[in-house]
Amino acid sequence: MALIRTEICDVIGICHPILQGGMGPYKTERLAIAVSRAGALGVISSIGMAATILPNAAPIDPIRLFGPDPPEVLLETSIRRVTEALRGSGGVFGVNVPVASEFVPASKMFVEKVVETVESDSQVARHLRVLITSAGNPAPWAGVRRHGLVWIHVVPSVYHAKKAERAGVDIIVASGHEGGAHVSWEPVHSMVLVPAVARVVRTPVVAAGGFCDGATLAAALCLGAKGIQMGTRFIATRESDFEPVWKEAVVRREERQTLTGRGLFGPMRFLRNRRAEMIVERTIKDAPRFFLGEPVESNEEILSLERDGFDALLDGDEDSALMFGGEVVGRINDLPSVASLVEDIVAGAVSTLRNINASVIHSKD
Ligand SMILES: Cc1cc2nc3c(=O)[nH]c(=O)nc-3n(C[C@H](O)[C@H](O)[C@H](O)COP(=O)(O)O)c2cc1C
Repeated sequence: MALIRTEICDVIGICHPILQGGMGPYKTERLAIAVSRAGALGVISSIGMAATILPNAAPIDPIRLFGPDPPEVLLETSIRRVTEALRGSGGVFGVNVPVASEFVPASKMFVEKVVETVESDSQVARHLRVLITSAGNPAPWAGVRRHGLVWIHVVPSVYHAKKAERAGVDIIVASGHEGGAHVSWEPVHSMVLVPAVARVVRTPVVAAGGFCDGATLAAALCLGAKGIQMGTRFIATRESDFEPVWKEAVVRREERQTLTGRGLFGPMRFLRNRRAEMIVERTIKDAPRFFLGEPVESNEEILSLERDGFDALLDGDEDSALMFGGEVVGRINDLPSVASLVEDIVAGAVSTLRNINASVIHSKD
């Protein structure tokens, strides 16, 4: 198999410069196992696991999705399951912990659980190598590096990238506005964001938002990134933990069929359907105060729209289901296995980079 190796492969200990993005509300356990076995970085997502202690920050019914275990037990069980599945494979994985201010009580508990599990079990330490923080201030989490973990932080702007570098992160994920789920109100897309971030920081940069194949991995490298993080593309894989209705929606949607609207902490990019339109209608009603950064009294309306949307999702009702996804849905038309997807991306990037020179007309003088 052709290989593309960059600095981040050595920092993390992976074969291919491809990261799976954290993707709540699922634990993404099966996806993480498949991605890590394929030589990229699989990631467990913690956000949905916090629903029992932060019901206003995660609008799912945790019992319906995960059963009765408390969040720290859910996370430890996932870590142990992924570790066990990777035993003897050389695969490594990470845990994503969003650190938005609304989420901090849960973030603290999850980060402590990651550190405790790594420190107390050498088998876990062999495979669980990465903590990815996102959606908030990186500074309070710098201590994780002392425990031998690679620390990655996700940012939506040059300002936040500089802040992450000052906090001492090992890798910065620059996440463009076309990406699925959490985005920023200020729309800076990957084509502008990735080269701008790569130029001002010394820390290696990974590009996120819109990446899905060999051509886009090659493009990310040309823009100064050392790899890509993908969310939406990994939803539509055989092994992903997502409901069939969500996977099929990703395959069927074209690039215009996403909408951004208010989420429980910050704006989100949804797959367009009746539910997303209702959320956007609510967003527009609150917009005058919201865009000026003034407090909106309550999230109650959004919360109940999202809650009903998750119930509809689990019932398989595509028009009422709450589903996040990036603009890249327009470039996703199949449901491959993770191993063949990763292999195709790498092979596609190798041939794109090899052949690009042939498409340029070189002048003789
Ligand atoms: C369904 C879904 C859920 C997501 N949940 C999270 C999350 O819990 N934490 C996080 O840091 N990012 C989350 N993201 C963002 C992804 O990690 C990733 O950065 C993004 O999907 C990249 O853009 P793409 O969708 O164009 O690949 C989510 C994305 C999707 C599509």
